Amino acid sequence: PMRLKHVIPLDFESTKVVPESHIWPETENFPLSDRVLPSDDDEKSKSWIPVIDLMAPNVVELIGHACETWGIFHLTNHGIPSSLIHDVESQARRLFSLPTEQKLKALRSADGATGYGAARMVPFLTKYLWHEGFLIAGSPIEHASVLWPHDHKTFCDVMETYQKMMNSLAHQLLLLMLKWLEVSEDELNWKLSMSQDALLLNSFPACPDPKSTIGLAPHTDSLLITILHQSQEGLQIFRDGFGWVTVSPIEGALVVNFGNLMDILSNGKFSGILHRAFVNQIRHRISVAYFCYPPIDSQVAPFAKSECPIYSSLTVKEYLEIRAKHMEDALSVIKIK
Ligand code: SIN
Ligand code: FE2
Repeated sequence: PMRLKHVIPLDFESTKVVPESHIWPETENFPLSDRVLPSDDDEKSKSWIPVIDLMAPNVVELIGHACETWGIFHLTNHGIPSSLIHDVESQARRLFSLPTEQKLKALRSADGATGYGAARMVPFLTKYLWHEGFLIAGSPIEHASVLWPHDHKTFCDVMETYQKMMNSLAHQLLLLMLKWLEVSEDELNWKLSMSQDALLLNSFPACPDPKSTIGLAPHTDSLLITILHQSQEGLQIFRDGFGWVTVSPIEGALVVNFGNLMDILSNGKFSGILHRAFVNQIRHRISVAYFCYPPIDSQVAPFAKSECPIYSSLTVKEYLEIRAKHMEDALSVIKIK
């Protein structure tokens, strides 16, 4: 099949009509009625999804249960200062409000990690997304100094501080999850303190016709853990028996979910949830996703005590190659038949 080019073929700011390239036709799986901002009776979706206090005495049970039944939860009392989260969002806004020509100077190269560009899923789709991203893996200084030749320090400092704090939060969460699974850290093939990470700034510009398009197409995440900051509605999860459920932001809370590597490690117990992002007509929505994963050469395999492993063992590097080639079907490739 013809693949879409991995580009953002649009200057969102100046686009007054959604072009054909971004119009997602109505299908059984993607009805128009589904693509709207939640109404008041969606209030209930707020209380459905578990809200977990990291400092709760029974936090292991709370997290374990949420992981097994939902695969996603809100996290409060996580220790990340709200002022820092606020700064990250405003620096992201500052970046995405630069003129398109300027942002294009900081493009992520084909094999590069850091930079501006389209979502990795784009070449696997038939239509483009109402989305632009900026990925940070390692220091963003090189790309940031292209964006702001004289004024990139604040951006870099804020992102670095946030990434460090998120790294230690991810470490804490992984320990709690291992505890629930009754697996000791020594049974992993890597030291949790060596975990790698990346930060993805997502931008969903206000859209003249939100129902005709989508911000991020339905997908599961790729790595171990994702910790998301969103201050405006847009994230939806697919829940069996319910359909698409809006994950309304809770002031001060972060959203935690898993990627495919966690599926493999937990032998399918903690499963990555299918999710997507919709767009709206009024506000420019920003979200910030933090991803954590084992060092690239470490082996990922279902925990030793999984009696009947459903996935084969492979290195993170091998996994990433499979993911890059098969995207959403990566797990079924790795599944033992
Ligand atoms: C993501 O799936 O990476 C982000 C979803 C969102 O923006 O809510
Ligand atoms: Fe995602």
